[in-house]
Amino acid sequence: MRKILGVAFILLVLTGIILAQTISPNERKEKMPKILVVYYSHSGNTREIANVLKDLTGGDIFEIQTTTPYPVEYSAIVEQVRKEKSSGVKPKIKSGFAGSKDYDLVFLGSPCWFGTIATPVETFLSEQDFSGKTIVPFITHGGSGLGNSARDISVLQPSANVVSGKAFSRGSLSSAQKEIADWLASFL
Ligand SMILES: Cc1cc2nc3c(=O)[nH]c(=O)nc-3n(C[C@H](O)[C@H](O)[C@H](O)COP(=O)(O)O)c2cc1C
Repeated sequence: MRKILGVAFILLVLTGIILAQTISPNERKEKMPKILVVYYSHSGNTREIANVLKDLTGGDIFEIQTTTPYPVEYSAIVEQVRKEKSSGVKPKIKSGFAGSKDYDLVFLGSPCWFGTIATPVETFLSEQDFSGKTIVPFITHGGSGLGNSARDISVLQPSANVVSGKAFSRGSLSSAQKEIADWLASFL
């Protein structure tokens, strides 16, 4: 299944490239895949990657924010998220997202929390509809990599094409610009 979604994603991007080479600038503007970078970040790592992705793709960007900020201190936020997970109560997030209708390709960013996407991203996905959109997860982490992120995004958005995505270690963010450029080039 992942393979099929991956191929669909590559075809979408290739279509964009072919259109870019064969049509006028105005037609190109209308037919190029429209890109959104949407992310949540607690301590800034995922924001850093999101901004590079925005710059390199020329897409729009949206930050998911909780209505009440999490504690800054590590053990306090871990405790709070642990409670959210055991109670099943998701954090509330600020409104303001205009919906996915204008986009074809969505880069969805999150820190890895407990081996998967952060709970504010779960809230966001449970409130929005990305049916028919291609979602590319990007995850920053302290060692777990992507974990179960792609699977859990698919559970919350069963009608989206969720591709496997890319993990960025928080220890090597300084080289992320090149890593992101190489990653984009590998499927463009
Ligand atoms: C509540 C919480 C849970 C975390 N769980 C994991 C985890 O399971 N695996 C991991 O590799 N890193 C984990 N981390 C570390 C973050 O994924 C990592 O620091 C990330 O880059 C933070 O991104 P941000 O700066 O965008 O918030 C956790 C951090 C927090 C605050």
